[in-house]
Amino acid sequence: MIIIVDFGSQTAHLIGRRIKELGVKHLITTPDLIEELLKSEKPSGIIFSGGPSSVYEKNAPTISKRILESNVPILGICYGQQLIAHLLGGTVSPGKIKEYGPAVFYPDKHPLFKNVQKEQLTVWMSHGDEVMKTPKGFSIIGKSENIKVAAMANEEKKIYSIQFHPEVEHTEMGIEMLKNFLNICKEEPHNEQIDVRGIVRHIKETVGSKKVAMAFSGGTDSFVAGALIAKAIGKKLVPIYIDSGLMRKDAMYKVTTLFPKLFRIRPTVVNARPEFLAALKNVVDPEEKRKKIGALYVQLFEKESFKDKNIVFLAQGTTYADFIHSKSTKHAALIKSHHNVGGLPKNMKLRLLEPIRYFYTDQVRYLGKLLGLPDEVVRQQPFPGPGFAVRIIGKITKERLDKEEQADQIVVEEMEKAGQQNKVFQYWAILTGVNSTAIKGDGRFYGEVVAIRALTTKDRMTADWAKIPYDVLQKISTRIVNEVPGVSRVVYDITTKPPATMEWE
Ligand code: XMP
Repeated sequence: MIIIVDFGSQTAHLIGRRIKELGVKHLITTPDLIEELLKSEKPSGIIFSGGPSSVYEKNAPTISKRILESNVPILGICYGQQLIAHLLGGTVSPGKIKEYGPAVFYPDKHPLFKNVQKEQLTVWMSHGDEVMKTPKGFSIIGKSENIKVAAMANEEKKIYSIQFHPEVEHTEMGIEMLKNFLNICKEEPHNEQIDVRGIVRHIKETVGSKKVAMAFSGGTDSFVAGALIAKAIGKKLVPIYIDSGLMRKDAMYKVTTLFPKLFRIRPTVVNARPEFLAALKNVVDPEEKRKKIGALYVQLFEKESFKDKNIVFLAQGTTYADFIHSKSTKHAALIKSHHNVGGLPKNMKLRLLEPIRYFYTDQVRYLGKLLGLPDEVVRQQPFPGPGFAVRIIGKITKERLDKEEQADQIVVEEMEKAGQQNKVFQYWAILTGVNSTAIKGDGRFYGEVVAIRALTTKDRMTADWAKIPYDVLQKISTRIVNEVPGVSRVVYDITTKPPATMEWE
């Protein structure tokens, strides 16, 4: 078993998932509990996660030096590496160049990089500080373009560390490195299988003779979760779609046509467009938008589900990424409150049923395929719960909502026409709230700038901007400025995650 010490990183859980996928047991803990767990659990290895702190900060999370003398193999990642260096007498300083996003790594020959046959790899970094001098007994086992100690090791103490994140999808051969560490720990990595029948059986046993109301949106996550529940309990599932007017047009088709066709269950549709526009009137702050939408959504959903006394459960298509993004720990700052998790009332009477809570997007898609769902469901782009509201910067009015919907639809149409839908994970238009000058016909006019964002990613923890062919971008830009009233200019967002989040708000 591997113990992962969470130093406040969003990716501690992702490390856990990777270890689980490699078929090895793990446990995630906080720094203060590690010493106790070392005795009680006798782990074969320990992984220190990254974290947002600097080792020199007053309340920076730390561990007892005794852990580093335990002779249990340790892998330090990012902050984990800096902490090891700091505790053992090396030096850590604010780097001259801070790195967020892709970087080039040059690995040395070392068991941690076994089977990594390339001389240079693209890895993802996210750090301000760096190790300047290794502690005594450590040697450098890899450099990057900008930092000298990108990886270090002490064979005698069995301590290894890397400055980048092997657990994220955009680090080349990262999983291989984790596998190598598991080998050093004498664990035997193997591929984990998803047990669909087990999940369905578990739902059936949990629900018994009761009914389940489901917050249904027609998106991949809620569709797959709905399919699992429908398989388990059939018509005892009551999917409810609250039509906020903030979703893409095709959501309605998935809800009212496709789901009934596949499962013979017709979701209840609640038309609430005017209520949502009223609730969002003059709201500018993105977190407030999310909270307002979340609160109204829950209110309408509860009203609908309380109509049937046999409904005891509330089902949601919450995934692991939603859950992590909404989690606020002592050290990890809350990034965004996602309404499908954050907006639930504290005194909720319904019991939660979240069958895909422990899966990431790519696994949910795979699960959908195992369930026989068509590509138009499984390959859908994720769409944020608050929908267009977080893609319209500033105030939301009926007029701006129409504008966003029209611009976004053009992006979708042109990307599909160009066959980009299977190459790019997510793409959309943003109303930036910034105005610029244009000349249309004979007159100058001052209108809104629309931004396009398109990203490649598997698990949404890291993302790269999509290298869309110029002619497709050209087509999108021309159509938007010509067809959408009040738009002066179109720009393409070329920022990776990290540091930028995928959505603008
Ligand atoms: P960020 O912007 O956090 O996005 O990098 C990661 C993924 O989550 C989606 N997203 C949301 N989904 N409610 C949701 O259900 C939200 O409030 C929300 N905000 C972002 C985003 O589209 C991307 O796929």
